[in-house]
Amino acid sequence: MNICVIGTGYVGLVTGACLADAGHSVICVDKDAEKIGLLKKNKTPIYEPGLSSLLRKNSIDFKTEIDREAVASDVFIIAVGTPPNQSDSRPNLSFVYDAADELGKKLGDLKGKAYKIVIIKSTVPPGTTSRVKKMILKELKHKKNIKLDIVFNPEFLREGSAIKDTLYPDRIVLGIESERSAKILKKLFKSFVKQENPAFLLTDIPSAEMVKYASNAFLATKISFINEIAYLCELAGANIDGVSKGIGMDKRIGKAFLNAGLGYGGSCFPKDTKALDHLAGDHGHVFHLLKAVIDVNNMQKKRFLHKIQKVLNGVENKTIGLLGLAFKQDTDDIRESIAIDMIDSLIERGAKIKAHDPLAEKKAREFFSGREKNIVFCDSPYEAAKGSHALIIATEWESFARLDLSKMRKTMKKPVIFDGRNLLDPQKVKNKGFAYHAVGGHERG
Ligand code: UGA
Repeated sequence: MNICVIGTGYVGLVTGACLADAGHSVICVDKDAEKIGLLKKNKTPIYEPGLSSLLRKNSIDFKTEIDREAVASDVFIIAVGTPPNQSDSRPNLSFVYDAADELGKKLGDLKGKAYKIVIIKSTVPPGTTSRVKKMILKELKHKKNIKLDIVFNPEFLREGSAIKDTLYPDRIVLGIESERSAKILKKLFKSFVKQENPAFLLTDIPSAEMVKYASNAFLATKISFINEIAYLCELAGANIDGVSKGIGMDKRIGKAFLNAGLGYGGSCFPKDTKALDHLAGDHGHVFHLLKAVIDVNNMQKKRFLHKIQKVLNGVENKTIGLLGLAFKQDTDDIRESIAIDMIDSLIERGAKIKAHDPLAEKKAREFFSGREKNIVFCDSPYEAAKGSHALIIATEWESFARLDLSKMRKTMKKPVIFDGRNLLDPQKVKNKGFAYHAVGGHERG
C-alpha cells in the first residue's frame, strides 16, 4: 500500500520503518526540517535499537510537507506528539490538529474519486479522533469525490524495544467507524507483524482512545503499588525482591512492571496519568486511585533523596557519582527522567555530580548547559565513581549490573552505593566492602 506517516518521533519512525520493511511504499512527513534533513542523509535522530539498520535497508521518502506525492497515499498515519502543556499538564493537541488541517487542505485539492483512511496513533483523549475527522471534512468542504474513514489505533511500543513491540504486539486495537476500513487495516497489520494470528480488538473510536490511557495508567499503577509495598518492606523488615516475585508468580497479577525503584519517568506515563486525571476531572469525577499513583511517584524520589541525605549526613560539598541519565535503559531519552530530577535536587542541596550514561550524555549536557560548574560528565562509570563520596544508580542499564566493584572501591572516597533501581546483588556488593542502600529493604537482605 501507499502509506504516509505524519510525525517522525518514536512511533512514526518505527511504524514507517516496519511498514517499509514489509514492502509498503512509505512517505514520512515532519515539519521539523532539521530532522528530515538528518533522515534524508540516513541519520537517525533518535536512538532506538535496530532502527538505523531498518531505515538504511529500506527506502523511505522523507518530506517536510504533505506534497502531491504524499497526498496520493491510501493510508495516512498521524503520529505526532501530544506533550503536556507547561501550565496545566493537559495534553497539547495542537500538533494533531495542525496535521489534520494540513491533510484536509491537501485532500481538498484532489481531483477524481478516492478512498482514504486516516489513522490517529497519537495518544489523545476520547472525542479527539472524531473532532479530527470533522476538521478534515470541513477542509474537504464535504466534497463527494473523497470518501474518508478515520480510525484510532493506540500505540503500545516501549522505547528501547520499539521495533520488537511493533512486530510482536500483544494486541492490535482498532477503533473503527466502518467495516471497510477494518478489513483493509487488518490486512495491512497482518502484512508486517510477525505473528501468524495477531490478536485484533475492534471497537468504537472513544473506547480505543480510552484503552491507551487506561493501559498506561494501569502500568503506572503497578509501579506505584510496588513502590509503596517496597517502602512498607523497609518499615516492616521484609525484602521487596522476594515479595515482588511472590506476587508476580500469580498469573492473574503477572510479574511485569513490578520492579520497585525511583518511580516511573519518560514521555508517556507521567503525561498520560496526568491527562487521564484531567479527563476525569472534566467529567466531574475524582479519580482517587490515579491521583494516589501520581502522588506516590512524586514521593518515591523524595524518599530516596531523604535516604541519601540521611546516610551521607547531608550532601553539601559532597561529590556524588551518578550512573544513568536516561529515563530508562536502552534509550537516550531524558524526558521526565528521574535521574535528571535527582541531579537537580542534589545540586540544589550543594552536591557536585559526576554523571555517566551509555547513551544519554549529549541530551543531558544540553539540559544542564549553563550549570556546568556543578556537574561533570564522565566517559565511564569508573570515572564517575572516582573521588566520589557515594555512587547512585539512577537508571536500570544492564551494563551497570556487571561493574567491577573492586576497581571502583579503590578510587572512591567512601564505599557507599545507593541503588535506585535494585540492579545489583546486595550480598555481592556488601562482600566487596560497600555500604549498600537500595529500595525496599535490601539493607537487611
Ligand atoms: C510506555 C508503555 O510501556 C508503552 O506500552 C507505551 O506505548 C508507551 O509508554 C507510550 O505511551 O508511548 P515507555 O515509556 O517507553 O513505554 O517505557 P516503559 O518501559 O513502560 O517504562 C516507563 C517507566 O517506568 C520508566 O521510567 C521505567 O524505569 C519505569 N518502570 C518500568 C519501573 O519503575 N518499574 C517497572 O517495573 C517498569
